[in-house]
Amino acid sequence: MYTEKVMDHFQNPRNVGEIENASGVGTVGNAKCGDIMRIFLDIDENQIIRDVKFKTFGCGAAVATSSMATELVKGKSVQEAMTVTNKAVMEALDGLPPVKVHCSLLAEEAIHAALWDYAQKHGIEIQGLEKPKTDIGEEEEEEEY
Ligand code: FES
Repeated sequence: MYTEKVMDHFQNPRNVGEIENASGVGTVGNAKCGDIMRIFLDIDENQIIRDVKFKTFGCGAAVATSSMATELVKGKSVQEAMTVTNKAVMEALDGLPPVKVHCSLLAEEAIHAALWDYAQKHGIEIQGLEKPKTDIGEEEEEEEY
């Protein structure tokens, strides 16, 4: 049911942990499944994501997508990080079963929330970034049904 890459990132998740005094922190949950994800970003003065860590209280697919999402944003500029959508994360994992697509949305939203936090603190604007939701459960219903 899961690709090798998903299993790999689930069993050996990259970038698990916290960053003290992070430049931006984002927490997003999905009230429907009860899963929660938190992303910490360390961003340098050139707006490059120097380091990123995550904590997920969630399912295996949520762990795997957060792990891959953190790998994809590391080293990117805050603007480039906006290209790391849930689709990009799923592609990088060679796909997810349809019932697990919402888990990848959690990763995308948590990154957006952390970028938003950073942008707010530094008074900068990131193109295409909208105020993040703290619960993605509602949006998902609209999209799926
Ligand atoms: Fe909710 Fe995967 S079941 S994040």
